[in-house]
Amino acid sequence: MILNQQGFDLWAEGYDQTVQLSEENHQYPFAGYKDILNRIFNEVMQVPTSTVLDIGFGTGVLTAKLYEHGHSIYGFDFSSKMITIAQTKMPQANLIEWDLSNGLPAALMNKQYDAIISTYALHHFSDEQKVTYITQLLHQLTPNGKILIGDIAFQTRAQLEQCRLDSKDYWDDDEFYFVHEELKTFLQDHCQLQFYPISHCGGVFVISNCARG
Ligand SMILES: C[S@@+](CC[C@H](N)C(=O)[O-])C[C@H]1O[C@@H](n2cnc3c(N)ncnc32)[C@H](O)[C@@H]1O
Repeated sequence: MILNQQGFDLWAEGYDQTVQLSEENHQYPFAGYKDILNRIFNEVMQVPTSTVLDIGFGTGVLTAKLYEHGHSIYGFDFSSKMITIAQTKMPQANLIEWDLSNGLPAALMNKQYDAIISTYALHHFSDEQKVTYITQLLHQLTPNGKILIGDIAFQTRAQLEQCRLDSKDYWDDDEFYFVHEELKTFLQDHCQLQFYPISHCGGVFVISNCARG
């Protein structure tokens, strides 16, 4: 099912509960959710008081934790209801209403980020759009900055197809999940990319600019 802005607005209040249920049952789509967010949290924490951009922050589960630890938070999401929930947790964060299919908002492009994070938001993009977007984001990183993506993701297309069979009653055919071995071939000339599988249907990508010199 394709969720538009209104769909996410309607989901905002119940979002955390839906995620928790799927997570606790170790089911697609959110199996491993907490571990995925924790993996990204720990990675960002390696740089004290860093500047973080969160794309599709939702209710701010991950960013609010980083905010509490003194990181500067910037972000955008197209759901005004999600923004209201997140902004309450992070009053000083710079949160913008913006559709990511329009690229990056101009107000956030004049900054460099130690970490650009995105969890469970980029699977609305086709694989081609993901590659274009990630390539653009690389320009917004500080020299040692990282893009950290946590999402429904698989090492191989065969693993994705197995998950689709195992979850056929609630599989979402309108979403485009990450397949590491495919993404790697598209991105290998542009950046360094590592994939850490966390659950049977989720994992974390750590992406950085190619070493200079
Ligand atoms: C599944 S939620 C993930 C929220 C949060 N990052 C998390 O891990 O819990 C997806 C979020 O991405 C946002 N989103 C989806 N498509 C978007 C788009 N085209 N532009 C901006 N935000 C989008 C939704 O509003 C929602 O808050």
